[in-house]
Amino acid sequence: MREPVLLRRQAAPARTLESYRLSGGMAGFERAKAIGPEATVGAVSESGLVGRGGAGFPTGRKWDAVRTAAESVRYFVLNADESEPGTFKDRVMLETDPFMVLEGVLIACYAIGATRAYIYVRGEYRQAADLLERCAGELAAAGCLDGIAPGGRPLAIEVRHGGGAYICGEETALFRSIEGYRGEPMSKPPFPTVEGLFRKPTAINNVETIANVPDIVLHGGAWLRGFGTERSPGVKLYSVSGHVRRPGVYELPFGAPLEELLDLAGAAEDLQAVLLGGAAGTFVFPRDFDLTLSYEGAAERHATLGSGALIAFDRTTNLWQVAERLGSFFAHESCGQCVPCRVGTKRQYEMIEALAAGSGQGSERELIARLGQVMADASICGLGQTASTAVRSLIEAEASGLLMV
Ligand SMILES: Cc1cc2nc3c(=O)[nH]c(=O)nc-3n(C[C@H](O)[C@H](O)[C@H](O)COP(=O)(O)O)c2cc1C
Ligand code: SF4
Repeated sequence: MREPVLLRRQAAPARTLESYRLSGGMAGFERAKAIGPEATVGAVSESGLVGRGGAGFPTGRKWDAVRTAAESVRYFVLNADESEPGTFKDRVMLETDPFMVLEGVLIACYAIGATRAYIYVRGEYRQAADLLERCAGELAAAGCLDGIAPGGRPLAIEVRHGGGAYICGEETALFRSIEGYRGEPMSKPPFPTVEGLFRKPTAINNVETIANVPDIVLHGGAWLRGFGTERSPGVKLYSVSGHVRRPGVYELPFGAPLEELLDLAGAAEDLQAVLLGGAAGTFVFPRDFDLTLSYEGAAERHATLGSGALIAFDRTTNLWQVAERLGSFFAHESCGQCVPCRVGTKRQYEMIEALAAGSGQGSERELIARLGQVMADASICGLGQTASTAVRSLIEAEASGLLMV
């Protein structure tokens, strides 16, 4: 059996700095300090690591933009808001290996020359937030934060509790929330690497992205390419729930077939479909269960990995009711700032509700598709841009005769 990489301490979590060091921890951080910021960013770039928060942006490129920014005040933000329905891999990562995530944060801050790090933890994740506070305190007491910030100053790490809204996970809304305002996204550009938190150059990364960093820096950029595919190097965490016997978080190298993940989780024999990629993902039906779990493999089948959430549904599930739930989620979570999303998610929800109840007028399917395109084209942020992705994939599946209920 393949040895886990990111989840290797899951069986025996290292929740003290001493136990973390005893299990090989902090060696990546020592290596980073030995090779310097530029080479550290170089290793991350060479590894091909891309963000695991959903957008898949190259991490090295983001870090390099902040490292070379003219501004002397720069920030690093760890995005641990994790509010996508069906997604819980970051919570597991934080609770089972908090020091590996914090080591990644230290390396990121050192590499980009951050003056301060913010860890933004979903409000409901009290246990993870308390653990991170305690572990960050242990790192400070052990002198690990000394001399990392520019000018040889100690690095400050601040844990913040999330604002309780899905939209606060969107990077610019998250910055507003930290700044003390309502969590509302801002138009991009300017991108966070130029004007981020408090209008200063900021690198923001997802928990899983950062958990990869200590190993990459310790073993060199080529190490990550020993896993996965050429275009999707590394391993990926998946949050699996729904009609499976063993719901939980699974780690697989990119390129593994979806069927393997379903087998690991003990999926029901009579699966009708899976929702891959979370609320903004797509329904995938058995004819596509052989798709390879990589960014390019998912795209080939018009699907998306998103943050790696998978919800399985057996033949008893009415997928229109699932779509109705998703529609209600987006209508509720839209921040209301821009019209296509504020009004579009509400109208979309009403139409899905009618279809789920069997009381539609007949024109809803076409209207949902057209409205979805308008929201994708004209919304400010990813929430409105992807709010119709799942329901549109359901409409296409229905037209192909794939629905069972
Ligand atoms: C509505 C919305 C919610 C998001 N929620 C999260 C989240 O909870 N966690 C996360 O890491 N990224 C989330 N993102 C993506 C972030 O905006 C950003 O791309 C990510 O934190 C960058 O980190 P990465 O490059 O390591 O993936 C969300 C995006 C959108 C549009
Ligand atoms: S797309 Fe939706 S969530 Fe995003 S800014 Fe506009 S109204 Fe807010």
